[in-house]
Amino acid sequence: MRSHLCGQLTEDHLDQVVDICGWVHRRRDHGGVIFIDLRDREGLVQVVFDPDYAAAFTLAETVRSEYVLKIRGKVRPRPVGTENPNLTSGRIEVLATELEILNRAETPPFPLESEVEISEETRLRYRYIDLRRPVMQQRMRLRRDVIRFLRQFLDHHGFFEIETPFLTKATPEGARDYLVPSRTHPNHFFALPQSPQLYKQLLMISGMDRYYQVVRCFRDEDLRADRQPEFTQLDIETSFMDEKQITDLMEDLIRELYAEVLRVELPNPFPRLTWDEAMRRYGSDKPDLRIPLELVDVADCLQSAEFKVFAGPAHDPDGRVVALKVPGGADISRKDIDDLTRFVGIYGAKGLAYIKVADRSAGLDGLNSPIIKFLPVESVQAIMDRVDAQTGDIVFFGADKARIVNEAMGALRIRLGHDRNLIQGDWAPLWVVDFPMFEWDDKDNRWFALHHPFTAPKGTLEQLKADPGKALSRAYDMVLNGTEIGGGSVRIHRTDMQQAVFNLLGIGEEEARQKFGFLLNALKYGAPPHGGLAFGLDRLVMLMSGATSIREVMAFPKTQSAWCPMIDAPALVTDLQLRELGIRLRKPPEAEKS
Ligand code: AMO
Ligand code: AMP
Repeated sequence: MRSHLCGQLTEDHLDQVVDICGWVHRRRDHGGVIFIDLRDREGLVQVVFDPDYAAAFTLAETVRSEYVLKIRGKVRPRPVGTENPNLTSGRIEVLATELEILNRAETPPFPLESEVEISEETRLRYRYIDLRRPVMQQRMRLRRDVIRFLRQFLDHHGFFEIETPFLTKATPEGARDYLVPSRTHPNHFFALPQSPQLYKQLLMISGMDRYYQVVRCFRDEDLRADRQPEFTQLDIETSFMDEKQITDLMEDLIRELYAEVLRVELPNPFPRLTWDEAMRRYGSDKPDLRIPLELVDVADCLQSAEFKVFAGPAHDPDGRVVALKVPGGADISRKDIDDLTRFVGIYGAKGLAYIKVADRSAGLDGLNSPIIKFLPVESVQAIMDRVDAQTGDIVFFGADKARIVNEAMGALRIRLGHDRNLIQGDWAPLWVVDFPMFEWDDKDNRWFALHHPFTAPKGTLEQLKADPGKALSRAYDMVLNGTEIGGGSVRIHRTDMQQAVFNLLGIGEEEARQKFGFLLNALKYGAPPHGGLAFGLDRLVMLMSGATSIREVMAFPKTQSAWCPMIDAPALVTDLQLRELGIRLRKPPEAEKS
């Protein structure tokens, strides 16, 4: 139907007769001449209709936005002064000689110019139109470029792409499972994979050596800007490589991806932080290193303080007291501090104490703070020295259980970094390593795996059993600008170790056999040392595109309540379908609606 793509026409095509197809982006009537910006995936081209070509001109008068057209015309230079430097085709236009309307269109539910704010629900309801917007086309193109590069890199390094089942059994990655009832096995359910974790380990046991897969994962969890119920991983597993070799290779992958696709040079090597240090300095296991603010422990300066807000946590082994200095922050108003206090409250902080440094050389008299009167002079001095407070700074304080302080002050650090434009540099990748194996859960009174239960510990089986709380794992996360873009580990490849970890997690032998018997069995038949990682592809593309939500880089995402407004899924099913599956609803659909 066509000889060229709209967005690719340039001065190279001058004087050629071309056939182009596309959508009407905009039509303008300029007294006797009609201009149509015709759009396809590659971009826009300006088409001119002149009354000299009467048939085409008359038809062009009936054309509306988003009509689908086929146009024959001649490429000519745009008149001097009317060039558009923002378009590839901006120096030329097409003088139409023939026009065919391939299809008409109703007025679109929203204009396609990218500056216009449209509600997300409307965008998702008409996603097929939303995706026509140039910005969305660019994001889909970037996603294509990223996946193409990743495949090339991994092919080049000897990885096999192997597909693994979607109809499977629960894989514990910390979320709820999406279940699929089986018709042929009444009362039984498949689970959609939260990740292909166990299959990829089995592939290593099969001797596949290096595997990858661009694969959909399904997790029923609370959604946020960087979480979707189904999302795509670049899932990777290798045999006979230790954590250093795996992380080096994965780092090369991301570095080369950035160089190739974005022409950006990332640091070599990426910095590495232990989990402990990340929590201490940034209150987060995915710190945004572009923000030059750090949490500083000050509990030891407060040992003799009686001020209960600080003294309690300072003496509590599970407590933490930190200072966060914001250079030049003494200008933060009372009202803004109240705002920030409410903000840390979201994370459970009971308040947000602060000291403003009006004049550092004036000792206590130079400090403004509602809490100073409650603190011994030497405590205040010691803290001011430790954070190296200067005239004009503000120092915030968090005191509570360590978990609350980390979350609240970690979030405050990020917020202040953005609010006060403190962000340095564009890209800050790093590895976080030396995670604890387990986390104690007070509510359930048991250990939880920080990564997943197949992650190998650093020490021996004896050391693990002797002090599980102290054990570190061989896991690693790749973090970019404060987002976890990938995570993985060296795996357990011995049955006794796997069994011991299950035991520590409170998974008894019978339950382990039932849930993971196939893995425990497979480990007995010559499992090689192996390990790998999975990248969150949507998150990676989101960061690379500058979008603020992964929904912006997925063709058909769900809303925050895991719903698709376009096809209206999930949906009710017929009685017949339920009967075939042997399912009776606890609440009939009608009752639920009322
Ligand atoms: P993990 O659970 O850390 O590890 O997932 C790997 C990466 O996937 C991304 N991710 C998500 N992206 C969008 N929406 C979600 N709901 C979501 N959940 C996770 C993150 C994350 O870093 N099997 C292990 C990997 C391994 O050990 O090899 C796993 O799935 O970017
Ligand atoms: P209060 O004694 O509750 O009136 O608090 C005195 C000051 O300490 C106020 O500025 C509070 O915002 C602050 N504050 C209270 N609890 C905490 C806390 N857990 N961490 C940090 N600051 C706090």
